[in-house]
Amino acid sequence: MTELHIVGGNPLSGEIEVGGRKNSAVAAIPAAILAEGASVLENLPAIGDVATYSNILSSIGAKVQRPTWSQMKIDATNIQPDVTPLEEVKKIRASYYLLGALLGRFQYARVGLPGGCDIGQRPIDQHLKGFRALGADTRIAHGEVIAQADKLRGAHIYLDVASVGATINIMYAAVLAEGTTVLENCAKEPHIVDVANFLNAMGARVVGAGTDTIKIRGVESLAPAEHAIIPDEIEAATYAVAAAATGGDVILRGVVPKHLDSVSAKLREAGVIIEENGDWIRVIGNDRPNAINVKTLPYPGFPTDAMPQMLVLLCRGRGTSVISESIYETRFNHVSELQRMGTRIHVEGRTAVVEGVETLHGAPVKASNLRAGASLVIAGLVAEGTTRVSGIEHVDRGYEFLEEKLRGVNARLCRHSDGVSEQGEADCQTTAANIGDG
Ligand code: EPZ
Repeated sequence: MTELHIVGGNPLSGEIEVGGRKNSAVAAIPAAILAEGASVLENLPAIGDVATYSNILSSIGAKVQRPTWSQMKIDATNIQPDVTPLEEVKKIRASYYLLGALLGRFQYARVGLPGGCDIGQRPIDQHLKGFRALGADTRIAHGEVIAQADKLRGAHIYLDVASVGATINIMYAAVLAEGTTVLENCAKEPHIVDVANFLNAMGARVVGAGTDTIKIRGVESLAPAEHAIIPDEIEAATYAVAAAATGGDVILRGVVPKHLDSVSAKLREAGVIIEENGDWIRVIGNDRPNAINVKTLPYPGFPTDAMPQMLVLLCRGRGTSVISESIYETRFNHVSELQRMGTRIHVEGRTAVVEGVETLHGAPVKASNLRAGASLVIAGLVAEGTTRVSGIEHVDRGYEFLEEKLRGVNARLCRHSDGVSEQGEADCQTTAANIGDG
């Protein structure tokens, strides 16, 4: 079993370099298979989901090379459209992008149903609705989705929900379709603009990404291209909240401050000082934050992926905060773990009422998904004493060099596999010396 052992109570201080955006990376990697030849992606995060995607592409015949951990060269000349490694496909949500990309290129795709974080139902009906509108037949059998068309033709498609995945997936199927596709009620997240830029660099004709209407003029073929992934605003938000919650002072470098507007606004409301300029933001925490209300919404609203982290900050708020989750049904299912640490949180459906307490106490806790794991790590950094976070493989799916980045800003934490420190005893001395029973 792998655990993070965290000795809390140190205000974070220093600088963190933010990596490439996970949800952009796992969308851009499958986009590369729309063209024959070798595309190159840069600024990829060194995370589990990227490694899983690389394995999946290799299994369908792509030549994948990683000259450095932040680069990937994908030669998709000889791929085939039956994606059979179901176990790998089920590890991540973004495997659904193979449906759109393979359908676009081969007019046929067979891909296992996606997995990913267990935070609600997460249907893919809007993806399939889009493929059908473009002329494909779709069916689900034996845990796989099969989509097939004689010819894909542009169509006018209205999404019932502004889904990130459906917006991108339908773009992938439409870029090589005959004629023009108009996609309405699209999601507007920055990584939709990022992958649209990559598609256009490959020769696609996509306009309107980042607004709620995207127009795609189909082209005959695409060519390989090079593209650098945008910064990960959720990784940045996670460290921003960690800095604020520990009363620290941290500069986050390599970010797009605009993408963090909703998070910065809420942190400011909580009394945290945020300075920003160019490609950095500085976060200066206080003793205890103000209680505030937060409602998650699609971009540019407050991101659901930063909500579990924000919840931890408010656990020490001066008063009662209310958090409403509007995207997923069960994104509060880690609250029972936070309650072990002395927090006072009452969940009613998709609303959490958080009564701030003076102190959190270290405890053994278990991460059940990526952002829940991130929130438990922050809670460990805040709490008195030692917190042992298990289920850390969920966190590794989406955070690169987690311990290194946190240790670089004075956090005391150490990874243990089956009771043995992975950093080596010398490095872990400070932490190990403080590990009690929590
Ligand atoms: C993406 O998931 C992200 N994952 C999620 O990141 C993120 O939480 C989410 O977008 C919202 O920003 C990836 O990019 C791999 P959606 P996705 O389709 O595409 C409903 C993280 O922690 N819906 O925008 O699956 C759905 O149930 C994660 O990094 C339908 O009803 O999200 C949800 O309520 C977790 N039918 C809402 O729409 C559909 O066909 C938004 O989902 C599709 C979605």
